[in-house]
Amino acid sequence: MPWPLAGVSSAVVFEPDRPRGTDGLVRLNSNENVYGPSKGTMEAIRAAVPSANRYPYMRYDELTTRVASLHRVKPEQVVLGCGSTEILRMAAQAFLGTSKKLVQASPTFEALEYYTRSVGAEVAAVPLTASFAHDLDGMRGRAASSTGLVYICNPNNPTASITPRKDIEDFLGQLPSTVLVLIDEAYHHYAGESSRYVSFLDHPINDERVIVVRTFSKVYGLAGLRLGYGIASPAVASRIRAFATLDNVNGMVVRAAIAALDDQQAVREFVKRNADERQEFFNQAMARMLKPIDSHANFVMINTHHPAAEVIQHFGKNNILIGRRFPAMDSYIRVSLGTPSEMLEFWRVWDLLPYANMHHH
Ligand SMILES: Cc1ncc(COP(=O)(O)O)c(C=O)c1O
Repeated sequence: MPWPLAGVSSAVVFEPDRPRGTDGLVRLNSNENVYGPSKGTMEAIRAAVPSANRYPYMRYDELTTRVASLHRVKPEQVVLGCGSTEILRMAAQAFLGTSKKLVQASPTFEALEYYTRSVGAEVAAVPLTASFAHDLDGMRGRAASSTGLVYICNPNNPTASITPRKDIEDFLGQLPSTVLVLIDEAYHHYAGESSRYVSFLDHPINDERVIVVRTFSKVYGLAGLRLGYGIASPAVASRIRAFATLDNVNGMVVRAAIAALDDQQAVREFVKRNADERQEFFNQAMARMLKPIDSHANFVMINTHHPAAEVIQHFGKNNILIGRRFPAMDSYIRVSLGTPSEMLEFWRVWDLLPYANMHHH
């Protein structure tokens, strides 16, 4: 019998036929790719199962070479990690210590801050600007000689906002020559190239201070298998790599990642679906007189004008997980984009809030 979906478009094939999970929860809390991994990537994972008894290190060179050629860099500039989280942890260990300081935005993704504190270094957090970009002038003002690292998350988590490329270039131009800058491009594929957002991997500047971090957890749909990487100058890369867990990248994901990179059609499809779902989210929000922060990622941040903790609890009681609290923006919630039916459920539960329709009355 022919496979029933063989003749239909890829859009239909991607419709997730997998169940929600036995707990019945709608997961809009971790900015995952609800449609991933692609079919080809899943096949590669299945094919890797019989080799689960083997240590994976013999496959690292192939993956490293593949990532290097993707970004037109030398293999020695690539550092692989157990998720991009491990790259952030290694960077904290390599460049921060008791007399050192990390400069970052507030709010931003917290993992680097967490590891910075665990190595005994200090964190200087500079609030985002009114347009939710990094306040790079403010950050430069905090970058003293003790600054070991500056973190720029672009697009930024949790706000899904971007910091203009030109502003980052100007910032680098004025920063002390000893200060390293880690640019986290976890949500790169969802941002779309424009004059305001340009990746520092796609269009590198010749600057040894820049470390760029990417992940397989987002558009490639491999959050559960844990793979990320950093790209830096050979010297900086080797300082970071010195803190890697030995055999840090597992044997499933070394093959899955190569299959995922081969499947660029799937990446385009995932990006398109996210863009459609993002547009629909804004339509639904506008219809309720809500104005989310302009999103360049696979999640949206929105001001509820009420304590976020209460709103999170309301969704939780209705089996919908949304993003955690971000104390710097305590009336905002972060919502990852899910499937169309999951988002319908989100808005149904939103409308149950006592103040959901206050603007209509
Ligand atoms: C900006 C950013 N960087 C890094 C990560 C870590 O992802 P992973 O360790 O799965 O690569 C995340 C996860 O949500 C993120 O949002």
